[in-house]
Amino acid sequence: MPATALVGAQWGDEGKGKTIDILAAKADMVVRAQGGCNAGHTVVADGVTHKLHLIPSGILNPATVNVIGNGTVVTPGILLREMDELASKGYSLKNLKLDARAHVILPYHIELDILAEAARGGADLGTTKNGIGPCYMDKAERVGIRVCDLIDPAVFAEKLKVNLAVKNKLITLVYGGKALDFEKIYDEYCGYAKRLKPYVTDTSVLVYNAIKANQNVLFEGAQGMLLDLDMGTYPYVTSSHPVTGGFCVGAGIGPTLIDDCIGVAKAYTTRVGKGPFPTELLDEIGERLRRVGAEYGTTTGRPRRCGWLDLVILRCAVRVNGLTGFALSKLDTLSGIDTLKVCIAYKKDGETLYDFPTDIRDLEGCEPVYVEMAGFGEDITGVRTFDALPKACKRYIELIESETGCPIRMIGVGQDREQNFDRN
Ligand code: IMP
Repeated sequence: MPATALVGAQWGDEGKGKTIDILAAKADMVVRAQGGCNAGHTVVADGVTHKLHLIPSGILNPATVNVIGNGTVVTPGILLREMDELASKGYSLKNLKLDARAHVILPYHIELDILAEAARGGADLGTTKNGIGPCYMDKAERVGIRVCDLIDPAVFAEKLKVNLAVKNKLITLVYGGKALDFEKIYDEYCGYAKRLKPYVTDTSVLVYNAIKANQNVLFEGAQGMLLDLDMGTYPYVTSSHPVTGGFCVGAGIGPTLIDDCIGVAKAYTTRVGKGPFPTELLDEIGERLRRVGAEYGTTTGRPRRCGWLDLVILRCAVRVNGLTGFALSKLDTLSGIDTLKVCIAYKKDGETLYDFPTDIRDLEGCEPVYVEMAGFGEDITGVRTFDALPKACKRYIELIESETGCPIRMIGVGQDREQNFDRN
């Protein structure tokens, strides 16, 4: 696997954490390169559930180096809490590395995320309110505070002073909120800095050296392609680039260094937050998918919207990410549904669309074109080979492959790490 990228092929929550954890068993290094604690990866190992937000999923494997790359945005309190929880369960953190260039989420980012969302009224974006957008705004405006600033008390004090003066004006004068206190933030964050300093390094060099030494490096995507700032359902997207290209910028390595790219796709479609969703099911089948698939946000606890599998989206994921294969997750959730529907195109104004629209206003009026197929009633959670799957499952998988032109390489049939097998 030398350098493998693993991305979400839909709207996030595809079960990437588990797939990463399986691949991490073979990986020498796992790298997060974008997003922050808006991500939530549930990893079940030996019957124990771990909820990770910032720490790469390879942390459960003691030999794996886990990198939080330059393209991420880091909430120090949340990172440290996650570290403490893992340490209390006996996991080692000695192989955790944090890039010095990663941007730091400060209380004013969170405050501004909350205030801006409230000010938008019904036109809110449905963010996770973790300050992700405001932090990336500062990065793009070139006023952000980076990890290398945070661990230098004098630099941190200076940058925080300048930033906080501006942010407090925004908070109080524009949004009518309460100003934040410099000393409180400074003291709290200096405490975090002291604890994080031993983990801070230039992770671009680490990742490059690992690849050059032919080590197995796994790039762990957070969110999914349709939440990408450029290629997603803008404005209902996150502020980073959860696509293969995002790894290059967010881990500080060139594209020719990535050998392989796997897109994790759920056997149906879900999304949290707002925005059009052509195959959404607002009936009892949608309810059933949510219940059986436990479709509630890891980060927010929000119920996820559920719908049929959409191959227009997966076709787009193949193109945008340069996918070399899919990992299909949660196939078992479809068991017991009499007739399965798979969207292979959209109809709009009498036209058939095979490519995902560029503008959500175009997506809004899209009617899915469905292929209907017989479902399967068998419990497949114990199946471990493609051949042992019911015929209906095989047909479902083959339809995805033929419509997207991309092979399915891994199949997930349950929550546990063991409930997974290779296609061949
Ligand atoms: P933000 O990333 O908090 O700014 O939220 C922007 C949009 O991305 C919202 O619709 C969120 O629900 C969505 N989002 C962010 N992170 C995730 C994730 O890990 N899974 C699914 N949706 C996410």
